Amino acid sequence: MRWQTGSESHVKTLIIFVALEILKLLNILVLHGPNLNLLGQREPGVYGSATLNDINKLLEREAQALQVQVSIQQSNHEGVLVDAIHSMLGQHQGLLINAGAYTHTSVAIRDAIAAVNIPAVEVHLSNIYRREAFRHQSFIAAVAIGQISGFGSESYRLGLQALVSYLIKN
Ligand code: DQA
Repeated sequence: MRWQTGSESHVKTLIIFVALEILKLLNILVLHGPNLNLLGQREPGVYGSATLNDINKLLEREAQALQVQVSIQQSNHEGVLVDAIHSMLGQHQGLLINAGAYTHTSVAIRDAIAAVNIPAVEVHLSNIYRREAFRHQSFIAAVAIGQISGFGSESYRLGLQALVSYLIKN
């Protein structure tokens, strides 16, 4: 009986160790779309005072806490974002994306996410549903596992947590 208990606890330790090692293997691509390089100086009343660098540091800290890897990229160009999504195959297990204005216009980014079929979480600093009507439509939403909108920089942290939690369970 005592031997069984000891053995069970070894098995549990091994399972926890393997789970932590699998987590470390999770590599999340973070994509920031157009104009987000200007965060901090861009319409601070809407987007807050945090710079893109502040947000990236926040994400790196959160990734460390969650024991996952993050690769972060920003582009003002739709095709570069599409290429980045294609290059996820075999390298990344999840996508955290703020496609900026392309959220409301880009069938190409939507199709790229559908094509690679890798779980994606859509994030926005502002609450796009409290703003102009043209921001109420997201082409990304239908191919994302979920969307977080309106919490400023915190949207990114919440988005990363939600994505990692989804990847662990699925
Ligand atoms: C945004 C919202 C978009 O409507 C806008 O075009 C952006 C930023 C946000 O994070 O709130 O560039 O994605």
